Amino acid sequence: MSEDFRLGGDLVVNRLGFGAMRLPSKNGMGGPARDPEAGRAVLRRAVELGVNHIDTADFYVSRNGTVRANTLLREALHPYPSGLVIATKVGPVIRPGSFSQGAPADLRGLVEDNLESLGVDRLDLVYLRIGGMGAPHGESLAARFEALAALREEGLIRHLGISNVTTSHLAEARAIAPVVAVQNEFHAAQRADADLLAACEESGIAFVPFSPVGGGADFDDERLAKVAARHGVTVAQVGLAWLLVSSPVTLAIPGTGSLAHLEDNMAAAGLALTEQDLADLT
Ligand SMILES: NC(=O)c1ccc[n+]([C@@H]2O[C@H](COP(=O)([O-])OP(=O)(O)OC[C@H]3O[C@@H](n4cnc5c(N)ncnc54)[C@H](OP(=O)(O)O)[C@@H]3O)[C@@H](O)[C@H]2O)c1
Repeated sequence: MSEDFRLGGDLVVNRLGFGAMRLPSKNGMGGPARDPEAGRAVLRRAVELGVNHIDTADFYVSRNGTVRANTLLREALHPYPSGLVIATKVGPVIRPGSFSQGAPADLRGLVEDNLESLGVDRLDLVYLRIGGMGAPHGESLAARFEALAALREEGLIRHLGISNVTTSHLAEARAIAPVVAVQNEFHAAQRADADLLAACEESGIAFVPFSPVGGGADFDDERLAKVAARHGVTVAQVGLAWLLVSSPVTLAIPGTGSLAHLEDNMAAAGLALTEQDLADLT
């Protein structure tokens, strides 16, 4: 089992968590629906294996709208076990064929959608997710983060995070309200946000890399393959173990709709990388 992290100072989570985006459809949002019973089984097994930090969003939905990550979470796990932290994200307004950014006034409705679909009175952690499908750009997040901070003051949210952001966004957000977690794409083969990770580490903010096993594609990195062969493990396990040793503030949220991949990913907690491995992964 990987060690714990104190999210926001009070929510104690296993650093190896779970991402729910792949449960409704294999390719993430809007793909062909997966079997909902298989998704519920993966969630139940994740909790059995020690996962107590699950990342989700109300917009993780299959293309035909029949399978929704938040519904699966509620059906599989509600009443939620004590200590389970469910992190969700708001910002995008997603309709068939369009992905746009919600305005500040939209955030209350988006938060309420999550409260209802998850079946809770207060959300543990809500990220403001900005930008489009690609890397973050220069937009200001201030007006939307202020709106989200007001909902936190109202008691609808325990902690705030930001996602798909730069170090400037982190400073902008922290001037408005405490930020306990940052979620950006980052993994062994994609380390462009090393400066953001360093900024989080300096302030004890959780850094929650999305697509921690490469998003299922392009994870065929020679360095990972070499270390995986040395230990007789999978590249996914090496990638996750590397994330966990790369900083004390990283929380991994690998996503899968497969029980076998879940078991594989959770076994990464037992993989001890050597100095030689870390040098090879540089
Ligand atoms: N904030 C954001 O903008 C944002 C963006 C993307 C994702 N996220 C969050 O981050 C979480 C993880 O990201 P992600 O799902 O994009 O990427 P990921 O966890 O790196 O990879 C998931 C993909 O890899 C496959 N996979 C998982 N474990 C595997 C293993 N051990 N061996 C082989 N293949 C494996 C999965 O397929 P199978 O399902 O078939 O196993 C799936 O296609 C998401 O669930 C979501 O919560 C956030």
